[in-house]
Amino acid sequence: MEKEIKKLQDQLAQQQKLASLGLLCAGIAHEIQNPLNFVINFNKMSSRLANDLEDITLAISDRIGEDELEELNDIVADLKENVNKIQEHGQRAVSIIQGILLLSRGKEGEKLPTDIPALLHEYVWLSYHAMRALDKSFNANIHETYPDNMPKVMIVPQDLSRSILNLANNAFYAINERSKAEGKDFRPMFDIMLEYSDNLITIVISDNGCGMSQEIQDKLFHELVTTKPIGKGTGLGMRITHDLITRGLNGKITFHSAVDNGTTFQIDIPCEQC
Ligand SMILES: Nc1ncnc2c1ncn2[C@@H]1O[C@H](COP(=O)(O)OP(=O)(O)OP(=O)(O)O)[C@@H](O)[C@H]1O
Ligand SMILES: [Mg+2]
Repeated sequence: MEKEIKKLQDQLAQQQKLASLGLLCAGIAHEIQNPLNFVINFNKMSSRLANDLEDITLAISDRIGEDELEELNDIVADLKENVNKIQEHGQRAVSIIQGILLLSRGKEGEKLPTDIPALLHEYVWLSYHAMRALDKSFNANIHETYPDNMPKVMIVPQDLSRSILNLANNAFYAINERSKAEGKDFRPMFDIMLEYSDNLITIVISDNGCGMSQEIQDKLFHELVTTKPIGKGTGLGMRITHDLITRGLNGKITFHSAVDNGTTFQIDIPCEQC
């Protein structure tokens, strides 16, 4: 009886922590949305200015030297490319913020026809490049297996993309840790496989990184745990991913892991073809 009461008290304390964490996340998301709007709006203005500059360059092209014209054209092209990048990543930040707001309000996202292989490919490589940007020495052999001619399916895309990003970030981090510990002889591997049958998609993500201790595994989906140094991890990633997969996508997520050997996550999500 006493044990049972203690367990319930612990659960309650945990739930209260999560509720205030939800509020905190919503508050932060909301505060970030404002400066983000500025970034996006000023970027739109910059886009128009780049177009004006292009027009002016064209208008004066017969009055300036060939070298100057070439330089001006290069600058305009670079400006336009930068503006497009800011637009693309700004929108991505907006949808992440929206996702956090929706999650902390407990609302469901909208199902959209989604090209799952394209989504998986995009987010795995996004995570990989983000890791490479932080650590130039990082490398991994990425192996992707997707079914041929997979039809689009109805799914909440941002729930899946955030989950894949969280899982890939963890996997690449774990691979990097092991790589640093074992040195040159280690062959870092990241594997993602997708299967689709009977309105069920199965995604298996494996890494041969540092793996997880039993203690971390026991807490992974239920408590906030991190083995990363301050500033590198919050311990929120897997908790959010578990929520997104089970509540957002009505699916399930399982894993197995062994220290110094690697980790495999499996996600099963029911979905309808469009
Ligand atoms: N693929 C993996 N290989 C090894 N350890 C992992 C893996 N995935 C998760 N972990 C362990 O689980 C812990 C919790 O992961 P989680 O994603 O919840 O938080 P985090 O990565 O530490 O921080 P963040 O909030 O930035 O995601 C990690 O700190 C790490 O110790
Ligand atoms: Mg993480």
